[in-house]
Amino acid sequence: MKNILITGGAGFIGSHVVRLFVNKYPDYHIFNLDALTYAGNLENLSDIENKPNYTFLKGDIKDYELIQSFFEKYAFEGVIHLAAESHVDRSIANPLEFVLTNVVGTVNLLNAAKWFWKDNMAGKRFYHVSTDEVYGSLGDEGFFVESTSYDPRSPYSASKASSDHFVRAYHHTYKLPVVLSNCSNNYGPNQFPEKLIPLCINNIINNKPLPVYGKGENIRDWLYVVDHARAIDVVFHKGKNGETYNIGGHNEWTNIDLIRVLCAIMDHKLGREFGTSENLITYVTDRAGHDLRYAIDATKIKEDLGWMPSLQFEEGLEKTVDWYLNSTAWLKNVTSGDYQKYYDKQYQNRN
Ligand code: NAD
Ligand code: TYD
Repeated sequence: MKNILITGGAGFIGSHVVRLFVNKYPDYHIFNLDALTYAGNLENLSDIENKPNYTFLKGDIKDYELIQSFFEKYAFEGVIHLAAESHVDRSIANPLEFVLTNVVGTVNLLNAAKWFWKDNMAGKRFYHVSTDEVYGSLGDEGFFVESTSYDPRSPYSASKASSDHFVRAYHHTYKLPVVLSNCSNNYGPNQFPEKLIPLCINNIINNKPLPVYGKGENIRDWLYVVDHARAIDVVFHKGKNGETYNIGGHNEWTNIDLIRVLCAIMDHKLGREFGTSENLITYVTDRAGHDLRYAIDATKIKEDLGWMPSLQFEEGLEKTVDWYLNSTAWLKNVTSGDYQKYYDKQYQNRN
């Protein structure tokens, strides 16, 4: 039995990674360390929570002593690190929390792995999951490749870039066996409705305005979350120490085009007249420093590790919409409590 630590496993992407590893690798014991912030939700894992090879550990990666005690107790041989503050708009409102969790939290995990693995690094692996936003913003042309210079432009991407640099520095300086990946925008089941796609789905269900920042011309490259989890599996097992792999879907959409497709799917699923949801589109004040375009060149992971996305976007979007429409209790739970306060504060001055 190999003990593997996954951080942030109660969140959106982490829950899909935990599920994949628990089901696919019965000879691994998966420990999911999560602080259960507003974004963490154990309901995301209700289908696997009683599996014998799964344990939930509640804890904050800002707490070094706690992390060290978990390493001592469970002798992790691998770490897949996803815990992070992940929303750009929140980072604009409160950058410091992003430094503390994303930078200090990552360095705490690196220190614990370095300390615990110091006498024998063989067979160990520290996998840091990052974002394409560290590369900055593209114009109309070109793609992010692994050697693209870092140019983070939001507090979120600056904190992720900083954590990436620390991970590479620990490889270079202490020979820690690390691997990294930088992925494009994910979508799919269990995404908290502060991000574009689930926010719009939730608002369409409730006949609320769909807030489009600026002119809606910003471009994102969307990947179905289960395909990201598959890529993480491949990189964890087959990636080379010290290497970085870009992950993306070759699937660029302007925000406004994406929202229009989503509106059409929602009208169809809800039995509403075509055009009903589009009438909810409302252009609002742009995000400060809004990056224009992200687009990933995923050639390296395809050629070196044989990974490719499995789903077409329309198929993935439809699966996503079906999941939200069938998960009314989940949606109700995550949008009760502080969500409304967040929403009102975030959107009240945008009109
Ligand atoms: P998320 O916000 O849905 O989940 C983050 C999880 O981390 C939550 O369960 C939360 O409780 C936990 N967490 C936050 N702070 C913590 C702390 N201090 N200690 C312990 N746990 C803590 O995020 P996500 O969208 O699932 O993203 C996961 C990772 O993937 C992040 O590192 C993010 O930067 C990266 N990523 C996300 C995307 C995307 O499109 N969502 C794309 C590329 C990379
Ligand atoms: P988001 O889901 O927050 O991801 P990221 O900023 O990490 O790419 O936003 C995706 C795009 O949608 C981004 O260009 C900002 C835009 N957006 C809106 O237009 N309205 C919204 O309410 C939100 C949350 C995002």
